[in-house]
Amino acid sequence: MGNNWKQIFSKAAGSAIPSPVRELLKVVNQPGMISFAGGMPAPEVFPIEQFAEGTELFKTQGSQLLQYGTTEGYNPLREFLAKWTSPRMGREVGLDEILLTTGSQQVLDLFGWAIIDPGDVIVMEDPTYMAAINAFHNHGAEFASVRMDEGGMVVSEIPSLVEGLRKQGKKVKAIYTIVNFQNPGGATMTLERRKELVDIAERLNLTIFEDDPYGYVRFDGDHLPSIFSFDKAGNTIYAGSFSKILSPGVRIGWVSGNKDIVRQMTIFKQTTDLCSSPITQMLTHEYCRKGYLDAHLPNIIGNYRVKRDAMEKSFQKHLAPLGFTWVKPQGGFFYWLSTGTIDSNELAKRALDKKVAILPGAPFCVKPEAGLHAARINYTFSTPDVIEEGVTRLVQAIQEMKIPAK
Ligand SMILES: Cc1ncc(COP(=O)(O)O)c(C=O)c1O
Repeated sequence: MGNNWKQIFSKAAGSAIPSPVRELLKVVNQPGMISFAGGMPAPEVFPIEQFAEGTELFKTQGSQLLQYGTTEGYNPLREFLAKWTSPRMGREVGLDEILLTTGSQQVLDLFGWAIIDPGDVIVMEDPTYMAAINAFHNHGAEFASVRMDEGGMVVSEIPSLVEGLRKQGKKVKAIYTIVNFQNPGGATMTLERRKELVDIAERLNLTIFEDDPYGYVRFDGDHLPSIFSFDKAGNTIYAGSFSKILSPGVRIGWVSGNKDIVRQMTIFKQTTDLCSSPITQMLTHEYCRKGYLDAHLPNIIGNYRVKRDAMEKSFQKHLAPLGFTWVKPQGGFFYWLSTGTIDSNELAKRALDKKVAILPGAPFCVKPEAGLHAARINYTFSTPDVIEEGVTRLVQAIQEMKIPAK
């Protein structure tokens, strides 16, 4: 085949998009680099000792830990999650309504297998989670986007958008939304919009994908009920994750929803990875069973609140005078910084020269122009001192560009 080896690749391979975040993560490990780029938890809050207690299980249940598990997931952990999530879900979901996955990223892929045919349109928020765009794209999805504001997705724009697309012969299948402390936008969908979205989905016969990896990391205000909890017609699937509340290394997420969709996803999971790791599922269950997860959440929230406040202070001090704007997030991992007239691709490059990594906004957007003058900034991974130093370096990069933000 010589140099033409690429001709064996599938059409999907030909159009797959490498993740700029995961590519950049290779660079940010350089010495002296400050990273505001990834979505990583703080290393200092990992509950290493309490989690490691679970390894005692090797002595009593070692052969189960080392064996294949069921595709549906380790039952005691499913049962724990069904109960633990019930305040948010409005009820305890049945075991046939919950599937454990290898990170919630896998839910995005399984959703693609179960729901998306090439050419189907998924309604997204702009900006949205880059790896959701890429995962759905791998299944041939097309996208339509609606704006976000401080109250989350502007759901009132959906009906005319969908009707217009349907008139053009497009098959619009689903709405994807990150309801709490959105990645990258930081906004949380209001209660009214959650209810309205359920009505819209029912009227227009659409599935809602409610992605919620950040919802339990709330600094201010009260938790809101999930979209799922308002949906009596069963159009909503809800994805959760242990990544931001315990550890991304355990690679455990879950999907709760309509049992037919969950079953279909399970069938695709059978050929994707057979099962998620019984070792991490059983250790995670042991950790949760002892009440450690509930005790640990305030540590995470406390740690990240201090960092959010440190970033807010540094932004006020250094970036407000330059005309940059942002909305203070009430939880989660990110600021979405509006860079005024400054091209955020250029800014991200210059920032890297100053050894501070940020992510430009365009790859997070269905319409890239919606992110040209915005950047995603993570605050959970760095200490408050490092945050101040990183923002100072960012300002140096901006000043060298010699363009006023306004
Ligand atoms: C919105 C969103 N969904 C899903 C994921 C996937 O997370 P994981 O696979 O670690 O559960 C992430 C990770 O950053 C995310 O931000």
